[in-house]
Amino acid sequence: MSVLELAKQGSADENRIGNVFAESDYGIDRIRLTLKEGAQLTTGSYVFLLDDDSFPVVYQVVQPYWFRPSFDFEESLITIGNPTADSRIQRYRCECTLVGKLTEDAVGPPRNPVKPFANVYSCSPEIVAKMIHPDSDWTAKLGTNPETDRDVLIDLNTLVRQGLIVTGAQGTGKTTGLLTLVSRAMQATPPARFILLDWTGEFASMVGRKEIRVQLINWERLATTVFENIHEKTKEIMARLVGGKGTKVFKLLSASVDQCKADEVFPTKKAIVTRAPGKVDSLWPKGKKEETDATLHMLETAINSCDEVFEKEPSLENTTTAEEVCDSLNSHHGIVVDFSHPELGLVPDDQETKNMVATALAKTIWSRASSGKGFGCIIVTDEAHRLLPEGGSREDIDRVWFKLATEGGRNGCPLWIVARRLALVNKTITIEAQQNMISFNTEDIDRHRIESDLGADFAGMLGALGQGEAMVKSMGFRIPEDKWSRIRKMIKVVRDHQIWMERNNQEIVSAISSTKQKDWKEILLDGRLPNRTEQLFAPLTYNKIHEAAIS
Ligand SMILES: Nc1ncnc2c1ncn2[C@@H]1O[C@H](COP(=O)(O)OP(=O)(O)OP(=O)(O)O)[C@@H](O)[C@H]1O
Ligand SMILES: [Mg+2]
Repeated sequence: MSVLELAKQGSADENRIGNVFAESDYGIDRIRLTLKEGAQLTTGSYVFLLDDDSFPVVYQVVQPYWFRPSFDFEESLITIGNPTADSRIQRYRCECTLVGKLTEDAVGPPRNPVKPFANVYSCSPEIVAKMIHPDSDWTAKLGTNPETDRDVLIDLNTLVRQGLIVTGAQGTGKTTGLLTLVSRAMQATPPARFILLDWTGEFASMVGRKEIRVQLINWERLATTVFENIHEKTKEIMARLVGGKGTKVFKLLSASVDQCKADEVFPTKKAIVTRAPGKVDSLWPKGKKEETDATLHMLETAINSCDEVFEKEPSLENTTTAEEVCDSLNSHHGIVVDFSHPELGLVPDDQETKNMVATALAKTIWSRASSGKGFGCIIVTDEAHRLLPEGGSREDIDRVWFKLATEGGRNGCPLWIVARRLALVNKTITIEAQQNMISFNTEDIDRHRIESDLGADFAGMLGALGQGEAMVKSMGFRIPEDKWSRIRKMIKVVRDHQIWMERNNQEIVSAISSTKQKDWKEILLDGRLPNRTEQLFAPLTYNKIHEAAIS
């Protein structure tokens, strides 16, 4: 059906939900509605009114509220415990923000300001779909929209070109949402390819699934980068331990490490210590024996107390290179680099070393992708504050990450990040990535940040989101059923074991039996908690997604 026909059908008298009403001036971008008696709209709903040429101008509800003119005597009645019951004087109002005017082939700005008292209609699912369904063949499904009951599709071109940030408070569903989106994008035509940096071991649930081919490798297999320049690195580490580079001990150490290098020997503790006596004569030909013995002794003690200098030469037998990881993408949809635990015991198991490995991989991806030889992949990092922390010195973050955030999309290697707290992730990176944002419910403090970056309208819509529900702001998208919220609440209590004994309650049993979500049935009816893999792979239809049509 054409847009004009849909608008005509949707603006039949019985579809009028209210009228534009304002006590003072209002602009095109923002209008206020008063709804007719009995009508209510929820945050995120779409409404439209007709422009002069009969095409629909669509607005989204950002804040619904009750208004009741109050009189002193009414308040007095409350004080004496006898409030007026008459509800005819109260109104249901909605603040709405402009989405755009829908014509047959485009969405654009409306030409005319909205007339006072203009009739306002609820958008039919068809109009919402035309409004926000991506005009692209390369899409992935994000979830379902409660208003329209339709799938929310997002244009992958946009996410690849501009990057993505997923944010929200602890446990709100970020990782689940990200993994569902990633697995859908892997199943798109053509499939998107991913390198996934997994800091907590949760991405392993993607491996071994029938519909996608994902390979898991432990980060330590890529740790060879840590051994590049190992001789210089050893000197840097030891300089801190022996009181700086001006000391006699350091001079001796430096000469011994250089000798290892000349001998093409890995600088283990033993290799350095055994070469030290041979260096004493050339460094201090006239030195007193007691003094040089003391220096030798100090060197030996310092080296033996340092965990970062290797006891024995690490075996590189089970290691791989960043190039090989990139090559694996020829036969896989994604490679998960698991940073959650060490496997070989090759290198120190700390964040600094892990970041070094992740950065080396990122550099390889960047140089391959930007060389224009047809290689490209999306780089994903959960828990972005570990790798890309805010504060600290800029040197803490290698330049390649800024390049990926700012120019990655253009070069075929965009960055998708998950940030629990936006304030903890480097701002240059988040500002770039937040052109496309999936935001779950956030802490107040982070909502302030979202408000300052994305505006009050978007931030305002985040407050009431339940677990697994998100607002999406994107240039490339679309939006969910209702026994939902009740069931979800019950699940929450069940997971808290508060009403565990009540799981035979008939009402609960029937509510749960009618849901499609497998793990909920299992929890309540069979008393079995789903495993992490199943939790993380709740089918996408169970992610409630509201789109914020604000750009
Ligand atoms: N759409 C959903 N519907 C129902 N439950 C969900 C949904 N999304 C996530 N959950 C549940 O919420 C819990 C937390 O999800 P998840 O680990 O994805 O959150 P997170 O935001 O990544 O948490 P963290 O801040 O700890 O990283 C999980 O038990 C998951 O099964
Ligand atoms: Mg998580």
